[in-house]
Amino acid sequence: MPSRIAGTGRAQSEEFRRIIEHATGWMIEYMEHPENHPVLSRSKPGDVKSAFPEEPPETGRSYESIFADFEEKILPGVTHWNHPSFFAYFAISGSYPGILGEYLSAALNINGMLWKTSPALTEMEELSLDYLRRMLGLREGFFGMILDTASTSSLLAVAAARETSGEFDIRKRGMAGRAELPRLVLYTSREAHSSIDKAAIALGIGSDNVRKVPVDTEFRMDASALRRMIEEDLETGAKPFCVAATVGTTSTTSIDPVAEIATVCREFGLWLHVDAAYAGIAAILPEKRFVLDGCDEADSLVVNPHKWMATPIDLSAFYCSNKTALREAFSLVPEYLRTEETDVVNLMDYGFQLGRRFRALKLWMVINYYGVEGLREMVREHIRLAGMLAGWIDDSDLFERTAPTPLSTVCFRLNPRKSTPAKDSRFLDELNEELLKRLNETGKVFLSHTRIHDAFSLRCAIGNMRTEESHVRGLWELLNSIGRELAGG
Ligand SMILES: Cc1ncc(COP(=O)(O)O)c(C=O)c1O
Repeated sequence: MPSRIAGTGRAQSEEFRRIIEHATGWMIEYMEHPENHPVLSRSKPGDVKSAFPEEPPETGRSYESIFADFEEKILPGVTHWNHPSFFAYFAISGSYPGILGEYLSAALNINGMLWKTSPALTEMEELSLDYLRRMLGLREGFFGMILDTASTSSLLAVAAARETSGEFDIRKRGMAGRAELPRLVLYTSREAHSSIDKAAIALGIGSDNVRKVPVDTEFRMDASALRRMIEEDLETGAKPFCVAATVGTTSTTSIDPVAEIATVCREFGLWLHVDAAYAGIAAILPEKRFVLDGCDEADSLVVNPHKWMATPIDLSAFYCSNKTALREAFSLVPEYLRTEETDVVNLMDYGFQLGRRFRALKLWMVINYYGVEGLREMVREHIRLAGMLAGWIDDSDLFERTAPTPLSTVCFRLNPRKSTPAKDSRFLDELNEELLKRLNETGKVFLSHTRIHDAFSLRCAIGNMRTEESHVRGLWELLNSIGRELAGG
């Protein structure tokens, strides 16, 4: 028998057609009824791995037996992010047009490292990010690039900021290459995502040089405190170089005053990066466009369609208004990658990765299939559902909100006696930890937690396209029944 690897002959194609038809049927059934699975996997550590032989198969297996493994051994270890009652972290959606984009992209298997290696990849990336920029109401002039995650986008932003920080030639000499290199300092709020710290760690800035700016009562960066901290650092001879503001912090989705922060950045000549990974998408709604107020002045901004715009993970949209800084930070063209075109974008010049998959296809398909109106409808509905839950919590004797709800994420806790946090904080922390454990054990919902004012708090993030009012009502019923039990009545 000829080896399978040698051929894409008729028999293999027919075999593939059969399995793909079977898989498509499976997928549609799954997408229609993700709630038939427990939302949070009940797998114990090692369960999935130990279901398989230690040695790889010496000879190829049939698709049928491989698919059976997928269903019987892999699926139990899956936490269902497609489940309409997935309310943890930031909920996301796998959508049909997004799946179609992934499917076709896998078939094409193109690598867009250079424009020439697939003009369609680069140009569809340009086009779809320009569509998204228009949808968000951002000004023209931002250079856009698709990356895997917001973490990577922020890393590129900080690298470009470092490149513009002075005549230190860090790219060539490194951080230790010059005795007179001052301490470079990056500012972000106490509520910022850990990816900002990680970017600073990876780039040799050092976590000690990420200064955490205090926040106001609604968890927004205090721009006057930022100014004071910059002045203090300048007095000690340090070199402030970048501020990372957040539109939609991870814990409470608070929105930093970007316009005020931009003024400070201008005054001191600092790079302004905006992490709008989750909440930036809200700006597709005309009534929420204000969430990106001030962002036209940013040097860079990241927003994740894979978080709240029905685009399967991964797809992070990175915008930079200083394309030259990115190029200066990253462009390095060895002879074997040199091409003759001069008037095209070679995406490898703007980041550290060379290979690049065709993510733009799924974003373009999502935007085209739903249209801007369709996507707005989803985001608007999620915000309505979050407001409804927040209202029930405010009217309840058992629960209280622990932060404002500007968008679709509700932070709250069980507090049967409505006690003050200081008096009963240990008791309330334990009570809420138990509540979260019992909720998630039901397999019907999945929520995560955070700490707010150092108190344990539950988070309900509404962001899955299948989440309807009935799912939020179901959560509220569960919360009340478990909450009452825990409260002893
Ligand atoms: C505000 C914010 N920024 C960045 C990230 C990191 O996102 P990614 O997983 O795309 O790196 C998150 C993740 O939830 C986030 O909430």
